[in-house]
Amino acid sequence: MTISAVTVQQQEVYMLQRKVEELENKLKEQSFLVEMMNVLVKDHDLNAMIKNTLHLAMQITHSEAGCLYITDNSISKLKAVEINGNVPKDLIKAFSKVNKLISKKQLYDIIEINKKNKLFPKFKKLDEKLESFIIMPLIVGENTIGYAVLMHRHDNSDNHSSTYSLEDINNLHVYSHQAALLLDNIRINIERNKKEFYLKTVGSLIAAIDAKDIYTQNHSSRVAKITVEFSRILGFPENMIETMHYGALLHDVGKIGVSDTILNKPGNLTEEEFSIIKEHPIKGVNILAPMDLEGDVLNIIKYHHERYDGRGYPEKLKGEEIPLVARIVSIIDTWDAMTSDRSYRKKLPIEKAIQEFKKGKGLQFDPYLVDQFLMLIDKDMF
Ligand SMILES: [Fe+2]
Repeated sequence: MTISAVTVQQQEVYMLQRKVEELENKLKEQSFLVEMMNVLVKDHDLNAMIKNTLHLAMQITHSEAGCLYITDNSISKLKAVEINGNVPKDLIKAFSKVNKLISKKQLYDIIEINKKNKLFPKFKKLDEKLESFIIMPLIVGENTIGYAVLMHRHDNSDNHSSTYSLEDINNLHVYSHQAALLLDNIRINIERNKKEFYLKTVGSLIAAIDAKDIYTQNHSSRVAKITVEFSRILGFPENMIETMHYGALLHDVGKIGVSDTILNKPGNLTEEEFSIIKEHPIKGVNILAPMDLEGDVLNIIKYHHERYDGRGYPEKLKGEEIPLVARIVSIIDTWDAMTSDRSYRKKLPIEKAIQEFKKGKGLQFDPYLVDQFLMLIDKDMF
């Protein structure tokens, strides 16, 4: 064997050894990350999960401090939900706007900002101990559900690093995707539970309204059913139709606060009694206020007695000032009231109700919506 052949062989052995070392390191890294993920998977409550997500990200990158921001549907509405370490208030606030500073688009990648970056002085001004930081977005599918900011802050210790290594960033890549998925999963579960609770509450409220007024039994469910069918024909998206369904079901929920004697009074109401009835849209909104409902559900409840000509209640809104969802429910609510028996009168024959609706076009009702509705009535759709 010549000398050069030996050298080549040695070199190959050396290269192989390096490869094995690299592989061993990778495995160590992986098992470290798996251990981390195991800690996260055990959390079933959102607060613990948020705490751990930030804590582990800090551990992986040997950071001294960190903040975690979770978006509320859109990345522009951000709130810091977890802070770890000594982070000045102004810096927490500045980091909550970090996505706007870096790019107008969503955050898609891990970004490191250190002394060499032109953005750094802006932040250093707010915290003299700040040495560098990483922004780690939490991405699920195509959505950024939030991000963590991890910081190196000067802490006088000997083994303190002031910048982040490539290894730190690589580890964060693997970690952030898993953490985001787990976090999102818990959020979805909470949403699902909230919805179940909501449905149960709605069910019992509807039963309470039906029990009060002997003449309007099932009125709410009929209005809801027709509202859903009508909205679907009008081409509304599914999430909107769901909102309309809840709004229509609950539109008269405020009648819980009106006495049974007034609700079931045969014959005409006095002016005072009528003014009490007229309070039911606002009462409904107040009843549901703690439930954190979609704005349009509340719009239906509040504005289903407004009139297109501005002579309705409670706010005398006019034309398109009245939310579209309320203009729709108002038509169906009136239709169902006219075509069913009430304490003060018998139901109208369909032909008579159609006549009344035509008369109300542009006065009580949105003219376009009435035309659409009557066309469907004509086709026997409802
Ligand atoms: Fe009503």
